[in-house]
Amino acid sequence: MTVPDDSEVRDPGALRASMVRALRDQDAITSERVAAAFATVPRHRFAPGAPLELAYDLHSTVPVKKDEHGLDISVMSAAHLQGVMLEQADIRAGMKVLEIGSGGYNAALVQELVGGEGAVTTVDIDRDVIDRARRCLDDAGYGQVRTVLADGESGVPDGAPYDRIIVTVAAWDIPAPWIGGLTGNGRLVVPLTVRCTTRSIAFDRDGEGLLSRSYRLARFVPMQGEGAPKEERKVLLRDGVALQTDDVRVRLDAEALNRALDEPRLVRWSGAAYELPDELELYLTLNLSSAARLHSSKDVVESGLVEASALLGVPTLVSEDSIAYRTRRENENTGGFESGVVAHGPQAEALADQYVELLRRWARNHRRRGTATIRYLPGPAASPLPQVTVPKRHGVVAVTWH
Ligand SMILES: C[S@@+](CC[C@H](N)C(=O)[O-])C[C@H]1O[C@@H](n2cnc3c(N)ncnc32)[C@H](O)[C@@H]1O
Repeated sequence: MTVPDDSEVRDPGALRASMVRALRDQDAITSERVAAAFATVPRHRFAPGAPLELAYDLHSTVPVKKDEHGLDISVMSAAHLQGVMLEQADIRAGMKVLEIGSGGYNAALVQELVGGEGAVTTVDIDRDVIDRARRCLDDAGYGQVRTVLADGESGVPDGAPYDRIIVTVAAWDIPAPWIGGLTGNGRLVVPLTVRCTTRSIAFDRDGEGLLSRSYRLARFVPMQGEGAPKEERKVLLRDGVALQTDDVRVRLDAEALNRALDEPRLVRWSGAAYELPDELELYLTLNLSSAARLHSSKDVVESGLVEASALLGVPTLVSEDSIAYRTRRENENTGGFESGVVAHGPQAEALADQYVELLRRWARNHRRRGTATIRYLPGPAASPLPQVTVPKRHGVVAVTWH
């Protein structure tokens, strides 16, 4: 936790000023406009009952509502992520903005950015959440923000077109009303889940579709209602080891893949640098011919069966009876890390070859930040597309690297 000096603790104004300084230091906030909004809106008024230190911590969410299993279904998002997304959104005075997924705080920040001439609508699927957001907004002096109870999958047509739509819940796809609800040069900022990893992507409207301007890793609670991510599957290979995919073409035979793990491991080093993990991951997950995500518990990693790269999930190449995933080791010559592959099963050699080739190709051609351009093309894919494509319900995600 980022906690300011003791002398400042308990004074919301001082905590807020300290939060803004830290958000600027960490490049979550890069503009004066966004800094001013964060400095103005009393964040703690949107987290009644929560400790002040939690409300003003940069990287913590504040729980709002949990489901029957105790999992968060609504939180006040972490300030760091809100700063990043508001910078991606590039909101100007006088704009009309729709926020999908409410809480009140982010909508108040947006109201500061659009000013008196602009208009902010925030929609949530949950009556408790939207009622709470309404109370907090009124209490903090943001009565002009419009709150709507609805499934945001359909947008909020009454009020469209919007200059900006900001989605603050993880979306598996982009329904037509989000694109159609934008002005001709509007921007959609959405935490889009592609191959089980979510990135906040700033998309500009590009004719019928969307074209990315920036992307950043992000974590959000999943969407409920019509847009809930029904395609995701997770299979347990054994206690503490699971594979996850959302690609219908990928078969996950838990028994055969679990057997593979008991076979001796093949380790291949690529000779290529391991850097910019989020950029590399995007490249790998979209270019592996049959991709899943391997997750392992700490116990299993400590037992030596699975590498630490799987603790947070790692792109994995699977066949019917074999798996290969990324690892790394220190590179004594350069001081950084070298990437490599661990493979198990009868096809370990072939999978490791394919994986190592991708590691080398990325390091050779794309080892920079922001080299991917992501397009969203609504409707059925015009075949064949020259890019790497990921089919979605309402369209296709198409990615190129430069
Ligand atoms: C991370 S919270 C939003 C945080 C908020 N923007 C803030 O100011 O901190 C995500 C919200 O999305 C809402 N949500 C989930 N599915 C939704 C849907 N289909 N339409 C609208 N809201 C949805 C949840 O009820 C939850 O309140």
